[in-house]
Amino acid sequence: MWAIFTLILAFSSGTLSLDKLNMCMDAKHHKTSPGPEGLLYNQCAPWKNNACCTANTSEEAHSDNSYLYNFNWNHCGSMSPKCKKHFIQDTCFYECSPHLGPWIQEVDQSWRKERIVDVPLCMEDCHSWWEDCKDDFTCKSDWHTGWNWNSGFNHCPAGAKCRKWTDFYPTPKSMCEQIWSNSYLYTTHSKTSGRCMQLWFSGENPNRKVAEYYLNSALQMPSFTLTSILSLAAASLAMTMS
Ligand SMILES: *[C@@H]1O[C@H](CO)[C@@H](O)[C@H](O)[C@H]1NC(C)=O
Repeated sequence: MWAIFTLILAFSSGTLSLDKLNMCMDAKHHKTSPGPEGLLYNQCAPWKNNACCTANTSEEAHSDNSYLYNFNWNHCGSMSPKCKKHFIQDTCFYECSPHLGPWIQEVDQSWRKERIVDVPLCMEDCHSWWEDCKDDFTCKSDWHTGWNWNSGFNHCPAGAKCRKWTDFYPTPKSMCEQIWSNSYLYTTHSKTSGRCMQLWFSGENPNRKVAEYYLNSALQMPSFTLTSILSLAAASLAMTMS
């Protein structure tokens, strides 16, 4: 009896111990837990007080074909600098953010155990990204899969012609959601709303409060219910035995 009781307690406290508001996903370059990184480079510097990326990762995030993912932004001619800066920011956000907990899911991939799904992006960040890239070229709408990696870097697969950005992404929404296979969710929330995640910010990281909001409003419910049921079960078990 006591064994079961202990088991229930251990399980219910286990479900609570994972800090979804301050954690790093289990992926290719993330630290195991977030912490200060005084030397974060350039566009990644806003995360320096609390980051899942190292200084090395933050510097690599700024170079073409970096060892991080061997990803070639220039697969349809040179990507314009104004467009590329959004991909650098996207990389900083992905690698450095300690507040993605509510949107982290397990995946069965060789290069990572977890990914993000449907992170609600602020409208301004998605729109400015699309505006600055809409005159560039690409050959695919989902940049996660389907490339030709024969050279070690991604190139357009056979039959995929380079076309205008807007042929693949007619709207900001289509770009933000499709480019990383639904890692991001388009929203009409603005940066002041507290209801969307910001790729671009300065000063204190505004995304912790946003993660807290989503954790409390929707995603917390199932585990809260589970914890309540387990606590009740434990309590009644304890009473039966006393
Ligand atoms: C980061 O680390 C990798 C692997 O150790 C190394 O090859 C690379 O040169 C480093 N990059 C920087 C910018 O220090």
